[in-house]
Amino acid sequence: MEFPFNINHLFSERISVLDEVLVAGRKSVGRPDHQANIATVIDELGKASAKAQQLPASITSASKMQSQKHQLYLLKDGERNGGRGVLVGFLKVGYKKLFLLDQQGVHIEAEPLCVLDFYIAESLQRHGYGLELFDFMLQHKNLEPVMMAYDRPSPKFQSFLSKHYCLTQSVPQVNNFVVFEGFFLNRAAAQLRKVPLKKTDGEIKPYSLLEREGKHLSVRQEQRALPWPFAPPHSPQLLVSSQFSHPQSTASSPSKAATRSDPASALGSSREQSPQSPLIERCRARRTNSLNGSQLGFH
Ligand code: ACO
Repeated sequence: MEFPFNINHLFSERISVLDEVLVAGRKSVGRPDHQANIATVIDELGKASAKAQQLPASITSASKMQSQKHQLYLLKDGERNGGRGVLVGFLKVGYKKLFLLDQQGVHIEAEPLCVLDFYIAESLQRHGYGLELFDFMLQHKNLEPVMMAYDRPSPKFQSFLSKHYCLTQSVPQVNNFVVFEGFFLNRAAAQLRKVPLKKTDGEIKPYSLLEREGKHLSVRQEQRALPWPFAPPHSPQLLVSSQFSHPQSTASSPSKAATRSDPASALGSSREQSPQSPLIERCRARRTNSLNGSQLGFH
C-alpha cells in the first residue's frame, strides 16, 4: 500500500511494533507530522483489512489503538515505490479475558493473547509476508501459536494457520474465538482457571466486546451463538469452530455447514500432541522447504 509520504521516514525497521502511543522508534518522538502520517497509515490499513474481510466497519484505526491496549506489528518494504517504501500489511494482537470451553465442555476463564486483526495487501498475499509478520510476533511474544486465541478467523487465515502451524483441530466454543487442541494443556501459560458454575464476577463478560459483530452477515440469525451461560456447552451454534475443524472446506462460504469435531476424540489426540509435537515440527519443516522454494522463485 502506497502513501503520499516516505514510509521510511516513519518506520526505520522492516517490522515496527506500535502500541497506544503510536510511536515507531525515536524518529517520530516530538514530530506531530510523523504522528499524523502514522495515524493515516493505520487508518488506511484498517479500512483495507475491513474491506477484505467484508466487515461493516474497521476494527483497526489509530483512535482505537490509542484507547485499547493492543499491539500492532507493521511490515514495510522499504525498497518499493521508488525507495519511498510501501506498507505490506499488519497484525494486531491483544490480551482478552475470555470464557472458553475445554475439551470436556468445562467453562474456563482465560486471558490469552488473541489475534484480533491481520491483513496483507491484496497484491502481496501468498508471498510469505503474512508468515514473516506472524513469526516475528511469535518470537517477540515468545509464544507458540497454539497458546493463542483467534478472533473469528477468516477462511484465508484458517488456511494460513493450518498450512504454517498445523493448527487444524479447534475446540468448539460458543463465542467468536477459536482455540486449538493443545491450548488447554498448559494452564499456567494460558492463564486458565475453571469458572464457577454461577457467574459471580459482574465485571467479566462472557466473551470479549464483539468488534467483529456484524461480520459475515450472511450467517443466519439462528446460527448465531447465544452468550454463555445462556447457551449450553454443546449447542449446535458452533459455527466458527466447527468450520475450523475442516480447514480445507472453509475457503468457500463462511455459512457453509460443517461437522463439529468430537470433543472426546479431540481430547485423545491433544494428549498426544504438545505444542512442540513432532507434528508441528514436520509442519515447520514442510514450511521451510516450501518457503525456500518460493523465495528462490520470487527473487
Ligand atoms: N485463499 C486461500 N488461502 C490463502 C489465501 C487465499 N487467497 N491467501 C493466503 N492464504 C493462506 C494459504 O494457506 C496460503 O498458502 P497457499 O498459497 O499454499 O495456499 C498461505 O496463507 C500463504 O501464507 P503467506 O503468504 O505467509 O500469507 P499471506 O501473506 O497471504 O497472509 C493473510 C495471510 C493475512 C490471511 C492474508 O491472506 C490476508 O490479508 N487476507 C485477507 C484478510 C484476512 O482474511 N485476514 C485475517 C482476518 S481474521 C483475524 O484477523 C483474526
